[in-house]
Amino acid sequence: MDGAAELVFCVNGRKVIEKNVDPETMLLPYLRKKLQLTGTKYGCGGGGCGACTVMISRYNPITKRIRHYPANACLLPICSLHGAAVTTVEGVGSTKARIHPVQERIAKCHGTQCGFCTPGMVMSIYTLLRNHPEPTLDQLTDALGGRLYVCVCFSKDDDDGEKEEFLPLDPTQELIFPPELMIMAEKQPQRTRVFVGDRMTWISPVTLKELLEAKVKYPQAPIVMGNTSVGPEVRFKGAFHPVIISPECIEELSVVNHADDGLTLGAGLSLAQVKEILKTQTYHALLKHLGTLAGCQIRNMASLGGHIVSRHLDSDLNPLLAVGNCTLNLLSKEGERQIPLNEQFLTKCPSADLKPGEILVSVNIPYSRKWEFVSAFRQAQRQQNALAIVNSGMRVFFGEGGGIIRELSIAYGGVGPTTICAKNSCQKLIGRPWNEEMLDAACRLILDEVSLPGWAPGGKVEFKRTLLISFFFKFYLKVSQILKTMVNGTDRVLAFPVLGVLVIRPKSQLPQDPIGRPIMHLSGIKHTTGEAIYCDDMPVLDGELFLAFVTSSRAHAEIVSIDLSEALSLPGVVDIVTEEDLRGVNSFGLFGEPEKLLETQEVSCVGQLVCAVVADSEVQAKRAAKRVKIVYQDLEPVILTIEEAIRHHSFFQGERKLEYGNVDEAFKVVDQILEGEIHMGGQEHFYMETQSMLAVPKGEDQEMDVYVSSQFPKYIQVTWVAATLKVPANKIMCHVKRVGGAFGGKVTKTGIMAAITPSPHLLHGCPVRCILERGEDMLITGGRHPYLGKYKAGFMNDGRILALDVEHYCNGGSTLDESLFVIEIGLLKVDNAYKFPNLRFRGWACRTNLPSNTALRGFGFPQSGLITENCITEVAAKCGLSPEKVRMMNMYKEIDQTPYKQEIDATNLIQCWKECMATSSYSLRKVAVEKFNSENYWKKKGLAMVPLKFPVGVLSTAAAQAAALVHIYLDGSVLVTHGGIEMGQGVHTKMIQVASRELRMPMSNVHLRGTSTETVPNANVSGGSLVADLNGLAVKDACQTLLKRLEPIISKNPKGTWKDWAQAAFDESISLSATGYFRGYESHMNWETGEGHPFEYFVFGAACSEVEIDCLTGAHKNIRTDIVMDIGHSINPALDVGQIEGAFIQGMGLYTIEELKYSPQGVLYTRGPDQYKIPAVSDVPTELHVSFLPPSQNSNTLYSSKGLGEPGVFLGCSVFFAIHDAVRAARQERGLLGPLKLDSPLTPEKIRMACEDKFTKMIPRDEPGSYVPWNIPV
Ligand SMILES: Cc1cc2nc3c(=O)[nH]c(=O)nc-3n(C[C@H](O)[C@H](O)[C@H](O)COP(=O)(O)OP(=O)(O)OC[C@H]3O[C@@H](n4cnc5c(N)ncnc54)[C@H](O)[C@@H]3O)c2cc1C
Ligand code: FES
Repeated sequence: MDGAAELVFCVNGRKVIEKNVDPETMLLPYLRKKLQLTGTKYGCGGGGCGACTVMISRYNPITKRIRHYPANACLLPICSLHGAAVTTVEGVGSTKARIHPVQERIAKCHGTQCGFCTPGMVMSIYTLLRNHPEPTLDQLTDALGGRLYVCVCFSKDDDDGEKEEFLPLDPTQELIFPPELMIMAEKQPQRTRVFVGDRMTWISPVTLKELLEAKVKYPQAPIVMGNTSVGPEVRFKGAFHPVIISPECIEELSVVNHADDGLTLGAGLSLAQVKEILKTQTYHALLKHLGTLAGCQIRNMASLGGHIVSRHLDSDLNPLLAVGNCTLNLLSKEGERQIPLNEQFLTKCPSADLKPGEILVSVNIPYSRKWEFVSAFRQAQRQQNALAIVNSGMRVFFGEGGGIIRELSIAYGGVGPTTICAKNSCQKLIGRPWNEEMLDAACRLILDEVSLPGWAPGGKVEFKRTLLISFFFKFYLKVSQILKTMVNGTDRVLAFPVLGVLVIRPKSQLPQDPIGRPIMHLSGIKHTTGEAIYCDDMPVLDGELFLAFVTSSRAHAEIVSIDLSEALSLPGVVDIVTEEDLRGVNSFGLFGEPEKLLETQEVSCVGQLVCAVVADSEVQAKRAAKRVKIVYQDLEPVILTIEEAIRHHSFFQGERKLEYGNVDEAFKVVDQILEGEIHMGGQEHFYMETQSMLAVPKGEDQEMDVYVSSQFPKYIQVTWVAATLKVPANKIMCHVKRVGGAFGGKVTKTGIMAAITPSPHLLHGCPVRCILERGEDMLITGGRHPYLGKYKAGFMNDGRILALDVEHYCNGGSTLDESLFVIEIGLLKVDNAYKFPNLRFRGWACRTNLPSNTALRGFGFPQSGLITENCITEVAAKCGLSPEKVRMMNMYKEIDQTPYKQEIDATNLIQCWKECMATSSYSLRKVAVEKFNSENYWKKKGLAMVPLKFPVGVLSTAAAQAAALVHIYLDGSVLVTHGGIEMGQGVHTKMIQVASRELRMPMSNVHLRGTSTETVPNANVSGGSLVADLNGLAVKDACQTLLKRLEPIISKNPKGTWKDWAQAAFDESISLSATGYFRGYESHMNWETGEGHPFEYFVFGAACSEVEIDCLTGAHKNIRTDIVMDIGHSINPALDVGQIEGAFIQGMGLYTIEELKYSPQGVLYTRGPDQYKIPAVSDVPTELHVSFLPPSQNSNTLYSSKGLGEPGVFLGCSVFFAIHDAVRAARQERGLLGPLKLDSPLTPEKIRMACEDKFTKMIPRDEPGSYVPWNIPV
């Protein structure tokens, strides 16, 4: 084997030659750290989020064709790139050279918010266009369907009729494939390349012979093709391979051979290539799975051979290939042989498996015969880019005429350690006619053969059992139908969602005044070009150290000992920060209860910070962190769930209570009383940019700059860093350029980590960086509080609710954090849009042994609002009325009083409701839904509408004060700074709009550099929907001060320029700098009397959603949502509609698919996008309409605007109640008329199990307590 130690590839047209490449290096860190191409982002490191998407181009010297495909740089070993061209977002376009039409359109159509995932989005679309300059809807769906949908609003609006011109797409302007690489591929002698690193050797054979030689020499070495199976195992499961064999461009592995009896496909073909090939054939079943398997990037990287040989338990293709009688063509030095892809192969039975030294060359996929039918089924948590919970391949062959089963094969994924074949069941059914008796027998046989214990990994055991037979029933129906007609069935084609339709109302204002106009996000173009800088995009500094946390692995335990010796002995490890290094400052009195930074005595949750390793590189710090040995002594009790906390009386402080009217008396006069409860799961923030910080000592006077991704720089500066370093706050400056999403998760949790990060500087004087991996971030930082709501409602038969008694319990986790504040806000907002004349609301924050939960967009309201709406839905069912009727009946009308006696004018609430009824054609569609339901037994539709009253305010005047600093420079340009953080909501854009209006100058003349404690001290947290409101008033104040000073100068020279006026002011010794200040809205709340004026104003709205559910699988489709909002006078309708849509989608995820799973020992299982599913593009309702009420006056707010960051989250529950409606319809048809209890999130599992039928009755049920379940609801 001849070695060639040089790795050659191109990045954005520039040649890269690596002489000493480390085979363990992935493309993502190489681009970011070595080439300083930071446009490609880290979001998860496991191929699940798409933030790291790049385009790979390869030239094939035999076919002379270039293949462009999207790939996840986080899973691409750089050694696999020899001869390839990599295009990153920087190579697509930039503000310095030329912006690409894709970048321009995404930015100008408001397709960015925090912008962190935008470069990945650009690369997906760019690659699509390189291959298909005029893509079809199907191709677009394929490219984007599985992309995570965190916050995007794609809409192009007409601003007062003006049409925006876009750059045309001109394929001749694109980067060409580097000719040098082409020549290299054509001319260079093809020989095996070997790259030797410190720990790993990479061998790239280029012929089949060399591949076999390598395999003989290193039989244990994996053959890495796409690295999408090996990569995650190395990264997340600690697998290590000293040798890797990665064949390159071996023709035989890419064979495509059509024969009379089937198709032979090379093992090296990517799944995307397989999909393209199958399109021309009639492999409907395989194509169906290939359309939903992973995302476009993974399908382009992953190989058919890698997929088959990996034999993942949830493989989508193996069950189908197994039932399809496929065979595997193997090759070794001894020669060729064929083995069947059958159960023995799938269970790795040695006699049926590949032998050491053998490789898979190709796969034979036979064509279906006449009277043979093959189908594929899968159900996942999300429609696309989600591993199946259960999948299946099924095949039946009847022989000529007659409908008697001659052959039957059924294989399942997701229900065992690998694909499971129901072989015995199938055997017993041979010879039977395809009829209902056979169906019944088949279901029983399958349940008997494919048994799942109650404790099975992955949980959802009863759901999985039900799916086993529901899938078979679907197969039965499908085949029966075809048998009747003998017409091939076609699979449904997904429609691509129509995204936000923005209604902008004409305004009578000066054309140059930007307020109220849909101005593009200030960083929009930079988001799309990758030039927007986030914390970890800052270049590595001289002597920089990296800090990695060591966390507890026990939920409640005493730490007996901590052994640091092995970790300290690793090369590159500089130090380990323990409690002693914090010099006595290891706890802070947060919200009235001390919270420790590092715990060295008694841990109270898994994920608690114990110590932190500091090394000269990220890799070494993380390796060493794993070598810290902690010995624990478990302690009792371990309290994980709300119910356990109630049993143990484990609460933070006492109850919070709000009472109005006389509940007990009212209960005596009502017609009916109902009692119920609903449980609601928590939610992960899933900001795209993980927790990030960089502390840079300045070298003199103890000064330090802290760059951090935080919503609260003052808090980090004063409360944390200055206090732990024991230096005055005036020495520590905290800077935030922008934040890649936060949603409440970058307030307290960031502070704790930011307090520890700079501490190594005390000993070593070096800059220290800390960037959490996605899994660590999800484990450590907590999220939205799970809730238990119990209610007792007293109502009249006509639906009027006269008395309501509600109890809220939130799972606060191990420390107080903001849990009591969340409970308080939840109580103050529990009435949502309704006037309950007599009520009692009580709430408790439970102390448990889970990571501490914290603020998340909506702050208690998404939970408390759902509890109220659920109660109303139940009242409606009791009264035999539609929930919408009962909602309308109980709503606030005109001027009224809230439970805390604050005045409310509900005119706009009613208007939103009526407008939403009208725009959604609620009544007509209700009839259509009922008709659909009467005609369909296994599919049901649901329609629901919910109102919204979202009170805006932070319960304290001081917490709402804001400041700004505005400078005018002598060239007339203006610099604005304020205390708000840009985290995607567009606050900086709005602030420039404000300065532009107030100073009457074009926006292009105003600049904003970022937020810093150096320019605006003591700024409040950015959150609570108020950032633009409060800071805007401060910016306005500063601008007005300046204008007032300058007015005499301007009036002397009205035709002058800003440069003239600035110079004149300077000459007259008039200051060109002003601070602006807003003291905060008047706000108070007295919990003793239950009275107050906690909020400044109310945002009103309504949303109507329609869904369709599949009663057999629990899948649901979001068909349409109409949202009407009262947003006052919008400062920037494009940004506002993005906030509403993004919040709605986040809420929809919260209430339907986002499910955190904990083990019975309190370990969070869901630690990445592969296990935790936020909505993807394919989950956005096929139609999503957002419209605003005509602007109304709001005298105290900034230009009568309203804060919109949070309210839309709650509207996501319209989807929850639409599903509820559909499930109720299914149950009614099945004669199940009793109360319906559905908890949130309303996942496919809950939907399926609630649609009870003969199949759910057929499955075995386990006695509660007879087994330890895999996961527990908390
Ligand atoms: C984010 C993500 C999402 C995913 N979603 C899905 C999904 O929805 N559904 C699904 O079914 N799967 C899914 N997968 C799994 C994916 O399909 C497999 O990881 C992939 O097909 C493996 O192919 P590969 O080429 O990357 O394998 P590699 O990682 O390169 O190799 C895997 C194994 O196959 C062996 N191997 C490879 N080629 C040969 C050969 N020619 N001869 C002998 N041995 C060989 C290797 O030795 C190695 O052990 C997902 C994976 C990721 C990372
Ligand atoms: S960082 Fe690569 S896919 Fe998430």
